[in-house]
Amino acid sequence: MSHLVTGIGQLVTNDPAVGDGSPLGLLEHAAIVVEDDRIAWVGSASTAPSADTSTDLTGRAVVPGFVDSHSHLVFAGDRAGEFAARMTGEPYTGGGIATTMAATRAASDEELLAHVRSLVAEMRAQGTTTVEIKSGYGLDVEEEARALRIAAQVTSEVTFLGAHVVPPAMRDRRDEYVKLVAGEMLEACAPYARWADVFCEPASTYAFDGDETRTVLTACAAAGLELRVHGNQLSAGPGVQIAVELDAASVDHCTHLTDADVAALGSAGSRLDLENPATGTVSTLLPGVEFSTRSPYPDARRLLAAGAVVALASDCNPGSCFTSSMPLVIALAVREMGMSPAEALWSATLGGAIALRRNDIGRIRVGARADLTVLDAPSYLHLAYRPGVPLARAL
Ligand code: NIG
Ligand code: FE
Repeated sequence: MSHLVTGIGQLVTNDPAVGDGSPLGLLEHAAIVVEDDRIAWVGSASTAPSADTSTDLTGRAVVPGFVDSHSHLVFAGDRAGEFAARMTGEPYTGGGIATTMAATRAASDEELLAHVRSLVAEMRAQGTTTVEIKSGYGLDVEEEARALRIAAQVTSEVTFLGAHVVPPAMRDRRDEYVKLVAGEMLEACAPYARWADVFCEPASTYAFDGDETRTVLTACAAAGLELRVHGNQLSAGPGVQIAVELDAASVDHCTHLTDADVAALGSAGSRLDLENPATGTVSTLLPGVEFSTRSPYPDARRLLAAGAVVALASDCNPGSCFTSSMPLVIALAVREMGMSPAEALWSATLGGAIALRRNDIGRIRVGARADLTVLDAPSYLHLAYRPGVPLARAL
């Protein structure tokens, strides 16, 4: 079956070889033919081939579906009270993760899966077509494996985050917990995950220091998992350097960076093959976290000037940032981090795809997955220009 999508007022392809030649590869008055789940043809509406069925978007803009490369959707309960306390001055420390751990352990598989599905539906309704999902609220062998099994039912981008925090029952036995994560827990979890991640944050008493991070990530890589890192969220710790050294696909947060960190991310960015990202480290920024923890934003301009490849993601989780909205993230990146609307959209689509080492998403071109997001607006500029307005939805 072929399907023609026509009447596209503005098409963002992320393919600089077409249209205006900019990184967004903009085409005006465009059409797309989709066959099964793939793009079969892209071009001017006036030269579009015929197809079995068709949709006329009457001038709306189409962009690649958002690629949300960082989320923590397998959880129960919420932490609205913690949010309220932060808004009256309490800092975010990661300590509340234990509250979510308790609620998550108490929930049934069915409850957790239904909740994940409802959050993924919420994301799709706002234009997200690919989502990465981490474990990290189970924090023992069975519960982490359960979280990953549930995540694997809704996405292929599943991340083992047993090293999210040391669970309360083991706070005075950190070494034992690190050994468990790198040993028995990894063995139980590896079959369900593509990725492994660690919350590397020496400034938090709950998260992991550089040596602990290295121990866990090295074991995970040896077990065949690819790496991601939560790094430099609350302080300028060693997360960025470890991520680049171990060739993690992405280091996420990047809020507190030294000049050496920026230089490392810049050269990691210039080594990345954007067409076929099999190695190299993306800098993923999560401005919804700074918004929701009332913290200073990462310096996106400093990273871009150094040559870093920047992705934007939601970090959707019940603690530091409970939004599923990539359009909000784009608006924050533009307004609060000085990214241009074009840079922010690229980072929320192709940037996320590269952070997941995927070459079949994040672009609209022949052969790519037909992950299309339509905007109730004539231009992608409206994503940041009309913050909070529900313009985007996955087709
Ligand atoms: O990416 N930093 C660690 N993990 C999450 C927060 C998780 C939580 O607070 O529940 C984050 O911000
Ligand atoms: Fe996170």
